[in-house]
Amino acid sequence: MALILGLESSCDETAAALVTSDRRILAHKLAGQEAAHRPYGGVVPEIAARAHVEVLTPLVEAALAEARVPLDAVDAIAATAGPGLIGGVMVGLVTGKALALATGKPLIAVNHLEGHALSPRLAAPDLAFPYLLLLVSGGHCQLLEVRGPGDYRRLATTIDDAAGEAFDKTAKLLGLGFPGGPAVEQAALQGDPWAVPLPRPLVKSGEPHFSFAGLKGAVLRARDAGTWSAEDIAASFQQAVVDCLIDRTRLAIRAAQGATALVVAGGVAANTAARGALQTLAAAHDLPFIAPPLWLCTDNAAMIAWAGAERFAAGLTDPLDVAARARWPLDPTAEKARGAGVKA
Ligand code: KG4
Ligand code: ZN
Repeated sequence: MALILGLESSCDETAAALVTSDRRILAHKLAGQEAAHRPYGGVVPEIAARAHVEVLTPLVEAALAEARVPLDAVDAIAATAGPGLIGGVMVGLVTGKALALATGKPLIAVNHLEGHALSPRLAAPDLAFPYLLLLVSGGHCQLLEVRGPGDYRRLATTIDDAAGEAFDKTAKLLGLGFPGGPAVEQAALQGDPWAVPLPRPLVKSGEPHFSFAGLKGAVLRARDAGTWSAEDIAASFQQAVVDCLIDRTRLAIRAAQGATALVVAGGVAANTAARGALQTLAAAHDLPFIAPPLWLCTDNAAMIAWAGAERFAAGLTDPLDVAARARWPLDPTAEKARGAGVKA
């Protein structure tokens, strides 16, 4: 049994967690920065980096206290090393390096996307490789064949905005607040998903990738038309995103023969409408559907500690001079898609 300390600071969540290789979450601590970014309607990198500096060390101390273990009991230190907002990534990685140096324990530089990709296995012990993963967050929208730690085949990505980014921009356009995903989902409960005719970019094109930029433009025009309520636009927008996610995922199911399950992860996986539609799609293809609990879908450090545990078990540790990376694809062989986001 190995005990891993995980650190996360790649976007606007600062987090520390202690997770064992036999899937016990001894502690997970998280400090969000929503209030600090709300006046700007989006994450401000400098504000985020400063906030990470202020709270990360106290969170590590709080996690150790909650788990009632001394720092020396940790077998390895896993820190997000990218992709993400580089200032924030550096705060977490440097903290991880300092702790590794002080304790003499190995450092594991974790790709934040690998944290999301492997997190379903923390909650579902029976989930076996390879599985088909829809990773939908504020910075990424990808379909991946997950074959094992460090072993991914990217089947699709977004050619412009990520799905979560589209939710955030729509919320801003409709004046629904920040962060956008939960606000749009809430407003959509009071709206008619079929009221506003909105496009489904690339659907039925045979092309594997996602595109959401056109949808954002259509939301702007719908708002300015003055014909529909914000609730109807929110509901119709959410329906359009779900339709796109389902259409692309259906294509990927055909491409990923041998997958043991359809899995969803990332912040947008918290969306009830998306989860429900994915569940129906999986059932139609006789695939088990796995969605981690909501708190594990959005950014957290337990997923980083768990990815660290999987890498540690595979003998994958990193030197102390490993660099922070703003961009870091999970599948380095995949060709670049235009304008793919940098955060996760
Ligand atoms: O994975 P995550 O916590 O952070 C990164 O992007 O790294 O994902 C955050 C994204 C945001 O864009 C947020 O608006 C979206 O996930 N999100 C949602 C919901 N909850 C969070 N989108 C739709 N519906 C939700 N309930
Ligand atoms: Zn994320």
